[in-house]
Amino acid sequence: MIETPRLILRQWSSDDVESWAGMNADPRVMEFFVSTLPREQSYESAQWMRENLERNGYGWFVMERKDRPGFSGVIAIDDIRWETPFQPRREIGWRLPVDAWGHGFATEGAGALMRYAFETLRWPEIVAMTATPNLRSMRVMERLGMTRNPAEDFDHIRVPEGHPLRRHVLYRARHLTSNLR
Ligand SMILES: CC(C)(COP(=O)(O)OP(=O)(O)OC[C@H]1O[C@@H](n2cnc3c(N)ncnc32)[C@H](O)[C@@H]1OP(=O)(O)O)[C@@H](O)C(=O)NCCC(=O)NCCS
Repeated sequence: MIETPRLILRQWSSDDVESWAGMNADPRVMEFFVSTLPREQSYESAQWMRENLERNGYGWFVMERKDRPGFSGVIAIDDIRWETPFQPRREIGWRLPVDAWGHGFATEGAGALMRYAFETLRWPEIVAMTATPNLRSMRVMERLGMTRNPAEDFDHIRVPEGHPLRRHVLYRARHLTSNLR
């Protein structure tokens, strides 16, 4: 479990699964994904994320607000399990229900997970990616101090050719050991 001033990042419980599925069925949340997710797919992915987190000690954490117990989204540091045109294959990411947007929760939770990746897991570098029109997500990357080199923009192999969301941006953050002092 990871704690920040306003948040707890924790392992999945069975109570989270319906909220996860509801969020993935919301077209506002999934605007920059190819489609919303059918409920069965969300149930399966929740089970997988719980096992993955248990096995590795990192992965997709449930985000909970201290002022409002229960599921308030997911924040992840995880391995990337597909052929990317970049290295390293380790990413940070986020997905929150609409009522949790606009409070700085994604940045606060992701900042804590990034420190965990660098300081505890000793990852030297981490990336973040999103479809080029997803400016809200890019703003989180920038608030985290991540940097983009437009020459590294790429076509996501899991998005169909010709699809408007195929083009992705890549942001990077490196662990500066001097920050640890
Ligand atoms: C991407 C996403 C997580 C961004 O959420 P967010 O709430 O905009 O991001 P943050 O947590 O950093 O919050 C920043 C916002 O909170 C506001 N804010 C309010 N109180 C704040 C506080 N105490 N501290 C910091 N920011 C605060 C900021 O002004 C900012 O709003 P603005 O962008 O309108 O200026 C969210 O839109 C989302 O889940 N989208 C759908 C899924 C998705 O696209 N995921 C990424 C796919 S790669």
